[in-house]
Amino acid sequence: MICPDHGVIWRKDPAIIINAYAKWSSQKPEKKAVVVYDTMWHSTETMAEAIVHGIVDEGVIARPIHIRSSHRSEIMTEVLDAAAVIVGSPTLNNQLFPTVSDFLTYMKGLKPKNKIGAAFGSYGWSGESVKLINQELEAMKFDIIDPGIKIQYVPDQDGKDSCFEFGRKIGKAIKTVS
Ligand SMILES: Cc1cc2nc3c(=O)[nH]c(=O)nc-3n(C[C@H](O)[C@H](O)[C@H](O)COP(=O)(O)O)c2cc1C
Repeated sequence: MICPDHGVIWRKDPAIIINAYAKWSSQKPEKKAVVVYDTMWHSTETMAEAIVHGIVDEGVIARPIHIRSSHRSEIMTEVLDAAAVIVGSPTLNNQLFPTVSDFLTYMKGLKPKNKIGAAFGSYGWSGESVKLINQELEAMKFDIIDPGIKIQYVPDQDGKDSCFEFGRKIGKAIKTVS
Protein backbone atom coordinates (compact mmCIF):
# COMPACT_ATOMS: atom_id res chain seq x y z
CA MET A 1 0.00 0.00 0.00
CA ILE A 2 1.25 3.49 -0.78
CA CYS A 3 0.22 6.22 1.68
CA PRO A 4 1.67 9.60 0.65
CA ASP A 5 1.87 12.65 2.93
CA HIS A 6 -0.89 14.19 0.88
CA GLY A 7 -3.03 12.63 -1.83
CA VAL A 8 -4.87 9.37 -2.29
CA ILE A 9 -3.96 6.01 -0.74
CA TRP A 10 -3.06 3.41 -3.38
CA ARG A 11 -4.07 -0.13 -2.33
CA LYS A 12 -3.47 -2.03 -5.59
CA ASP A 13 -0.15 -3.28 -6.92
CA PRO A 14 2.37 -0.69 -5.54
CA ALA A 15 4.82 -1.50 -8.35
CA ILE A 16 2.65 0.49 -10.76
CA ILE A 17 3.31 3.66 -8.76
CA ILE A 18 6.92 2.86 -7.89
CA ASN A 19 7.81 2.22 -11.54
CA ALA A 20 6.00 5.37 -12.68
CA TYR A 21 7.80 7.37 -9.98
CA ALA A 22 11.17 5.99 -11.08
CA LYS A 23 10.41 7.02 -14.68
CA TRP A 24 9.15 10.51 -13.75
CA SER A 25 12.01 11.26 -11.35
CA SER A 26 14.67 10.21 -13.86
CA GLN A 27 13.40 13.09 -16.08
CA LYS A 28 14.70 11.30 -19.16
CA PRO A 29 13.77 13.55 -22.08
CA GLU A 30 11.65 12.16 -24.93
CA LYS A 31 12.07 13.63 -28.41
CA LYS A 32 9.19 15.98 -27.86
CA ALA A 33 8.59 19.72 -27.39
CA VAL A 34 5.89 21.69 -25.65
CA VAL A 35 5.21 25.26 -26.71
CA VAL A 36 3.57 26.94 -23.72
CA TYR A 37 2.16 30.44 -24.21
CA ASP A 38 -0.50 32.97 -23.41
CA THR A 39 -1.85 35.75 -25.57
CA MET A 40 -4.21 38.72 -25.42
CA TRP A 41 -4.94 39.31 -29.14
CA HIS A 42 -3.59 36.10 -30.76
CA SER A 43 -0.25 37.40 -32.07
CA THR A 44 1.82 35.29 -29.67
CA GLU A 45 -0.56 32.43 -30.45
CA THR A 46 0.12 32.78 -34.19
CA MET A 47 3.83 32.63 -33.38
CA ALA A 48 3.30 29.50 -31.24
CA GLU A 49 1.49 27.74 -34.08
CA ALA A 50 4.22 28.55 -36.62
CA ILE A 51 6.92 27.38 -34.17
CA VAL A 52 5.06 24.08 -33.64
CA HIS A 53 4.82 23.60 -37.42
CA GLY A 54 8.59 24.13 -37.70
CA ILE A 55 9.36 21.61 -34.95
CA VAL A 56 6.99 19.03 -36.47
CA ASP A 57 8.59 19.64 -39.88
CA GLU A 58 11.77 18.18 -38.36
CA GLY A 59 9.85 15.01 -37.42
CA VAL A 60 9.68 15.87 -33.71
CA ILE A 61 6.45 15.68 -31.68
CA ALA A 62 5.26 19.12 -30.58
CA ARG A 63 2.08 20.71 -29.36
CA PRO A 64 1.02 24.23 -28.42
CA ILE A 65 -0.44 24.65 -24.94
CA HIS A 66 -2.46 27.78 -24.18
CA ILE A 67 -1.91 28.43 -20.48
CA ARG A 68 -5.39 29.69 -19.63
CA SER A 69 -7.02 26.67 -21.31
CA SER A 70 -5.07 24.17 -19.20
CA HIS A 71 -4.50 23.51 -15.52
CA ARG A 72 -0.87 24.03 -14.57
CA SER A 73 -0.62 20.39 -13.40
CA GLU A 74 -1.67 19.22 -16.87
CA ILE A 75 0.95 21.46 -18.45
CA MET A 76 3.59 20.01 -16.13
CA THR A 77 2.57 16.45 -17.08
CA GLU A 78 3.48 17.37 -20.67
CA VAL A 79 6.66 19.18 -19.58
CA LEU A 80 7.86 16.20 -17.53
CA ASP A 81 9.13 14.07 -20.43
CA ALA A 82 9.64 16.84 -23.03
CA ALA A 83 13.17 17.54 -24.26
CA ALA A 84 12.27 21.18 -24.95
CA VAL A 85 10.01 23.72 -23.30
CA ILE A 86 9.44 26.79 -25.46
CA VAL A 87 7.70 29.65 -23.65
CA GLY A 88 5.83 32.57 -25.21
CA SER A 89 4.38 35.75 -23.76
CA PRO A 90 3.26 39.15 -25.00
CA THR A 91 4.76 42.15 -23.21
CA LEU A 92 2.29 43.77 -20.82
CA ASN A 93 3.29 46.90 -18.91
CA ASN A 94 6.98 46.08 -19.48
CA GLN A 95 6.42 42.66 -17.91
CA LEU A 96 5.40 39.14 -18.76
CA PHE A 97 1.72 38.37 -19.14
CA PRO A 98 0.78 37.36 -15.55
CA THR A 99 -0.29 33.79 -16.39
CA VAL A 100 3.11 33.16 -17.99
CA SER A 101 4.84 34.34 -14.79
CA ASP A 102 2.54 32.03 -12.84
CA PHE A 103 3.49 29.06 -15.02
CA LEU A 104 7.23 29.83 -14.86
CA THR A 105 7.10 30.13 -11.08
CA TYR A 106 5.27 26.81 -10.76
CA MET A 107 7.65 25.05 -13.17
CA LYS A 108 10.71 26.43 -11.36
CA GLY A 109 9.47 24.99 -8.06
CA LEU A 110 9.28 21.50 -9.59
CA LYS A 111 12.97 21.68 -10.59
CA PRO A 112 12.85 20.38 -14.17
CA LYS A 113 16.13 18.92 -15.44
CA ASN A 114 17.70 18.20 -18.84
CA LYS A 115 15.60 20.69 -20.83
CA ILE A 116 16.24 22.72 -23.92
CA GLY A 117 14.56 26.12 -23.66
CA ALA A 118 13.72 29.13 -25.81
CA ALA A 119 11.43 32.16 -25.66
CA PHE A 120 9.16 34.08 -28.00
CA GLY A 121 6.52 36.76 -27.91
CA SER A 122 4.73 39.62 -29.58
CA TYR A 123 5.19 43.17 -28.32
CA GLY A 124 4.22 46.75 -29.13
CA TRP A 125 7.10 49.10 -28.28
CA SER A 126 9.47 47.98 -25.49
CA GLY A 127 9.25 44.18 -25.80
CA GLU A 128 10.72 42.88 -22.53
CA SER A 129 8.96 39.49 -22.48
CA VAL A 130 11.59 37.41 -24.30
CA LYS A 131 14.40 38.74 -22.10
CA LEU A 132 12.35 38.03 -18.95
CA ILE A 133 11.48 34.48 -20.02
CA ASN A 134 15.14 33.79 -20.84
CA GLN A 135 16.15 34.95 -17.35
CA GLU A 136 13.72 32.49 -15.79
CA LEU A 137 14.79 29.61 -18.03
CA GLU A 138 18.45 30.35 -17.29
CA ALA A 139 17.67 30.26 -13.56
CA MET A 140 16.26 26.76 -14.16
CA LYS A 141 19.50 25.80 -15.95
CA PHE A 142 17.76 25.16 -19.25
CA ASP A 143 19.98 24.92 -22.30
CA ILE A 144 18.96 28.12 -24.12
CA ILE A 145 19.62 27.25 -27.75
CA ASP A 146 18.57 30.60 -29.26
CA PRO A 147 18.29 34.20 -27.99
CA GLY A 148 14.57 33.98 -28.79
CA ILE A 149 12.24 35.62 -31.23
CA LYS A 150 10.08 38.71 -30.79
CA ILE A 151 7.71 40.23 -33.29
CA GLN A 152 6.12 43.67 -33.17
CA TYR A 153 2.32 43.41 -33.12
CA VAL A 154 0.71 40.98 -35.59
CA PRO A 155 3.16 38.58 -37.31
CA ASP A 156 3.22 39.06 -41.11
CA GLN A 157 4.29 36.27 -43.48
CA ASP A 158 7.99 37.04 -42.91
CA GLY A 159 7.39 36.88 -39.18
CA LYS A 160 5.60 33.55 -39.45
CA ASP A 161 8.42 32.21 -41.64
CA SER A 162 10.96 33.29 -38.99
CA CYS A 163 8.94 31.44 -36.34
CA PHE A 164 8.81 28.34 -38.56
CA GLU A 165 12.62 28.43 -38.94
CA PHE A 166 13.00 28.99 -35.21
CA GLY A 167 10.87 25.85 -34.72
CA ARG A 168 13.04 23.89 -37.13
CA LYS A 169 16.15 24.92 -35.20
CA ILE A 170 14.51 23.64 -32.00
CA GLY A 171 13.48 20.39 -33.74
CA LYS A 172 17.05 19.83 -34.94
CA ALA A 173 18.44 20.45 -31.44
CA ILE A 174 15.96 17.94 -29.96
CA LYS A 175 17.07 15.29 -32.44
CA THR A 176 20.63 15.51 -31.03
CA VAL A 177 19.44 14.77 -27.47
CA SER A 178 20.46 11.24 -26.46
C1 LIG B 1 -2.61 46.83 -21.45
C2 LIG B 1 -1.48 46.62 -22.43
C3 LIG B 1 -0.19 46.94 -22.04
C4 LIG B 1 0.88 46.76 -22.93
N1 LIG B 1 2.15 47.06 -22.51
C5 LIG B 1 3.18 46.92 -23.38
C6 LIG B 1 4.52 47.26 -22.97
O1 LIG B 1 4.77 47.67 -21.87
N2 LIG B 1 5.51 47.07 -23.89
C7 LIG B 1 5.29 46.61 -25.15
O2 LIG B 1 6.23 46.41 -25.90
N3 LIG B 1 4.03 46.28 -25.56
C8 LIG B 1 2.99 46.42 -24.71
N4 LIG B 1 1.71 46.12 -25.11
C9 LIG B 1 1.48 45.72 -26.50
C10 LIG B 1 1.35 44.20 -26.68
O3 LIG B 1 2.50 43.55 -26.24
C11 LIG B 1 1.11 43.93 -28.17
O4 LIG B 1 -0.19 44.41 -28.52
C12 LIG B 1 1.22 42.49 -28.56
O5 LIG B 1 1.11 42.39 -29.97
C13 LIG B 1 0.16 41.63 -27.91
O6 LIG B 1 0.41 40.29 -28.25
P1 LIG B 1 -0.76 39.19 -28.16
O7 LIG B 1 -1.67 39.39 -29.36
O8 LIG B 1 -0.08 37.87 -28.19
O9 LIG B 1 -1.48 39.41 -26.89
C14 LIG B 1 0.63 46.28 -24.24
C15 LIG B 1 -0.68 45.97 -24.60
C16 LIG B 1 -1.72 46.11 -23.72
C17 LIG B 1 -3.13 45.75 -24.15
